[in-house]
Amino acid sequence: CGIVGVLGHHEVAPLLVEALKRLEYRGYDSAGIATVNAGRLDRRRAVGKLVNLSDLLVHEPLAGKAGIGHTRWATHGAATCTNAHPHQAGPVAVVHNGIIENFRELRAELEAAGLPPQTQTDTETVALLTRLHMQRGLDARAAAQATLARLEGAFALLFLFEGEDDLMIAARRGSPLALGHGEGEMFVGSDAIALAPLTDRITYLEEGDHAFVTRAGAQIFDAAGRPVTRETLRIELSQTQVDKAGYKHFMAKEIAQQPSVLGDALAHYLPEDGLNLPADLDFTGVERLTLVACGTAHYACAVAKYWFEALAGLPCEIDVASEFRYRAPPLSERGWAVFVSQSGETADTLAALRHVKGQVARTLAVVNVPTSSIAREADLALPILAGVEVGVASTKAFTCQLLVLAALALKAGRDRGRLDDAAYAAHLETLQALPGLVNQALALAPEIEALAAEVARAQDVLFLGRGPLYPLALEGALKLKEISYIHAEGYASGELKHGPIALIDRDVPVVVLAPHDRLFDKTVSNMQEVMARQGKVLLVSDGPGLRAAGAGTWASLRLPEVAEPFAPIVHAIPVQLLAYYTAIAKGTDVDQPRNLAKSVTVE
Ligand code: G6P
Repeated sequence: CGIVGVLGHHEVAPLLVEALKRLEYRGYDSAGIATVNAGRLDRRRAVGKLVNLSDLLVHEPLAGKAGIGHTRWATHGAATCTNAHPHQAGPVAVVHNGIIENFRELRAELEAAGLPPQTQTDTETVALLTRLHMQRGLDARAAAQATLARLEGAFALLFLFEGEDDLMIAARRGSPLALGHGEGEMFVGSDAIALAPLTDRITYLEEGDHAFVTRAGAQIFDAAGRPVTRETLRIELSQTQVDKAGYKHFMAKEIAQQPSVLGDALAHYLPEDGLNLPADLDFTGVERLTLVACGTAHYACAVAKYWFEALAGLPCEIDVASEFRYRAPPLSERGWAVFVSQSGETADTLAALRHVKGQVARTLAVVNVPTSSIAREADLALPILAGVEVGVASTKAFTCQLLVLAALALKAGRDRGRLDDAAYAAHLETLQALPGLVNQALALAPEIEALAAEVARAQDVLFLGRGPLYPLALEGALKLKEISYIHAEGYASGELKHGPIALIDRDVPVVVLAPHDRLFDKTVSNMQEVMARQGKVLLVSDGPGLRAAGAGTWASLRLPEVAEPFAPIVHAIPVQLLAYYTAIAKGTDVDQPRNLAKSVTVE
């Protein structure tokens, strides 16, 4: 969920909505704002995307120069108006990101105290508890502090009070919060991006901090309740106002941008004369690499594992962040851990990063948002330079993540003496050719659009791949289900015969990702096994591969040849386009598919 707050000189409703727009990547199940106007607390909330709230505000405007706002990704309680934030209890309104773990216990107490909750949310208990403390004689500040002392879990909170039009109380425990400083105005946001149009002077609250925010500034207290000073930074935020640049969807624009953003990342990390990575980034003595991420970023890690092992002989483990942290992974003091995240705000990934601190020699972040929590908390952050990504289904961030991970794998190969000059030069050349190769892959769009009309009729789709194309098969299935809602699974080609082959019939499209590499013949055998059972194969390969594969496929797509092991970066394009055009054929909401958020900020 996304949180924002403004103590301003002018009407705050439009500012709050504008800031929430920048936070919609954290969820869009419902949205709401509350303001204090002439001492009176009032709110407006609407189910669904932010635009519904904007529409509501046209008919039922909300005046006031102090306000808080929220865009929700539902956890406790359905996405209804009653469950939407801000939650209000008498003189208190609250917006919240995260989870209050002991909310059931608090609900019981509140009921006993004569303040029964009206919603199923954990957040309402925070508002009610604060109200209870105020009923018992505490002022706003003391009541909020008393409430905070009772809460368990990971969260960020922002309070607004009736009769107090120069006060917001912000609290950070587990979920980040940034304070923004204006000229006699103050702002609070889940991240600096939300506050970008309002100010570039930012103070990040630290873990356990809470702050009394007034127009004159913020009084910050640490977890022990001691007054503290936190540094104010000037944040460089390049114009983050984004548009579709004539495309129908952000996803289409972001797919099309890949040659250019890969070019930017290449210019930075792989300039003509070799690799440009921080001088002290030396993989020589690294015992093990642990790569942790969620969703698409996790599949980028899964591809990179093949690279680190093959190019650098570096033992490498990968996991999804939500599992990694809780399975007591034995870590090596001479190991490094890499956290990959587009947003840099994914709660599971952030928690995993915090978990390894002190247990490994070094933490690296591969992120798209350089001001993000993961970037700030890792020992070293490597930006992927993909530019703002808006579409919930990650595309250009994925290929840019792969590029940065490829650069790291080459560096590791060099440092560890596993890549001779010739092999190194050949790999550099392959990577440098990527923008052109990706451009050629994009030219397949019309063919893919035609195939998508057929795929859109399927109930299930399988994706197969071997070696580094196996994780890409997983990514292909994820992309398709995220935006077209068609059930899809990715499998290692060789694993098909051990179970999933039972699913094959003439109605199941099977997308086979098979560049003409060392393993090609084996993959073709697996493809034959599908076709022998009347499976409908879409073969994605290159010229030599398509010639060698022979007849019998339903359809094929010809990509340019890419030297091993970097084919996944080019194969990503048809996989993305297939998901995109299938979603278009099905008429789904491509950029903001149901139930998802671009970045999930709860564990
Ligand atoms: C969400 C999105 C996925 C994304 C994942 C990780 O679940 O829906 O598309 O891959 O989060 O996001 P991150 O910002 O950490 O890369």
